[in-house]
Amino acid sequence: MSFSILGTGKAVPDYILTNDELATIVETNDEWIRTRTGIEERRICKDETITELCVKAAKEALDDAGITAEQLDLIICSTMRGENLTPSQGCMIQKEIGAKCPAFDLNAACSGFIYALDVADGYFVRKKVKYVLVVSMDNLSNITNWKDRSTCVLFGDGGAAAVLGEGDDLLAIHLTAAGNDEVLRIPHGENSSPFYEHKPEPALLQMMGNDVYKFAVTAMPEGIRTVVEEAGLQQSDVNWVIPHQANIRIINTAAAKLDIPRERFFCNINHYGNTSSGSVPIALHEASQAGLLKKGDIIALCAFGGGLTTGSCIIRWCK
Ligand code: UT7
Repeated sequence: MSFSILGTGKAVPDYILTNDELATIVETNDEWIRTRTGIEERRICKDETITELCVKAAKEALDDAGITAEQLDLIICSTMRGENLTPSQGCMIQKEIGAKCPAFDLNAACSGFIYALDVADGYFVRKKVKYVLVVSMDNLSNITNWKDRSTCVLFGDGGAAAVLGEGDDLLAIHLTAAGNDEVLRIPHGENSSPFYEHKPEPALLQMMGNDVYKFAVTAMPEGIRTVVEEAGLQQSDVNWVIPHQANIRIINTAAAKLDIPRERFFCNINHYGNTSSGSVPIALHEASQAGLLKKGDIIALCAFGGGLTTGSCIIRWCK
């Protein structure tokens, strides 16, 4: 016995940064961004804090699941950078929604939502929990190098939440990590110690985009193949793939390597860009809200990101 997804919720900032506006900040243009990435616009935090966004997504997911914050047994927040180093973002969510349960953060970059599902699975298997809230939220605009056109056009802020309850709808899950701080890295940025001998680097995202691209177009189909097999299914049984929204060309290439029709890959990258760990659950929530997911549908979630990490799972939709 593991879990079923009982409800989802989403929160993105109000401000829409278009490709045309970006072209006034760095040397780029709408055509390059659209054709190379599929992104048309992204959301950027102005007055919203990451805590406010987490709380909004969490409350929507609780309402959707029909349970109260007091019923939660655990909160896991996947994020690369919460409001504070401590308290954790999970504890901030717990405080703001009025929950009483343990709460913590987990950082697996863009694969964070699926890593959090795997951790939650362990709590259900040990029968420690009845209801778990997972919130996956990042605001990369704080750590984007707005002078680097090869990265600043790619990312956006936002995330989503899911309420998990006892059930048997997680059919397979598979995580990987291949430690690599060369192709994707965000340094801490500061060090107050007068004794430390290394010079701190600014807290800005650095990425070798082509290397991540090559990693992703192999890792994504591999991850999906693995979990389909672990679940005892055929690729043709998959009704929807909810892939990490990093680049539409990565999704198209991954789809071409699988026996799953491209129309079954849900995409909303045009509106949000890459929201890191928020990306997969935002897409899951939007696919659900659009009425695309039917009770009993087989859904493959798949993500890759900094670490380098990957996460893939098969879920049967139970709503
Ligand atoms: O969650 C995981 C996070 N990361 C990713 O998923 C990133 C994966 N990688 C990618 O999506 C792609 O590699 C990028 C979108 C980052 C880059 O696309 P690309 O087609 O691999 O372009 P490129 O890096 O090979 O650059 C092609 C050209 C270069 O000019 P030259 O050297 O050919 O003259 C770049 O300088 O495009 C230029 N360029 C741009 N031009 C206009 C790079 N960025 C831009 C830009 N606007 N924003």
